[in-house]
Amino acid sequence: MHHNDVMTEQQNVTITVCENGPYEVIGEVDILDANGELIRHVTKSYLCRCGHSEKKPYCDNSHKKFEFTDDGLGPQ
Ligand code: FES
Repeated sequence: MHHNDVMTEQQNVTITVCENGPYEVIGEVDILDANGELIRHVTKSYLCRCGHSEKKPYCDNSHKKFEFTDDGLGPQ
């Protein structure tokens, strides 16, 4: 596959809001820091939704310790 093919081929990214837990991100994504610097290129990641992770933006399972609860269901 040529470089250009990679650039033009759009991959779907799916974000799933996990019940009482993180955002599951599936698909090829670049995760940038607050300065726009690439911190990780991933095809699967879990991003903290509870605010308690010590490894933000990634989930480190602290949501369990802090008993974060949200059913993950969006507004109807
Ligand atoms: S969602 Fe898992 S540590 Fe925050």
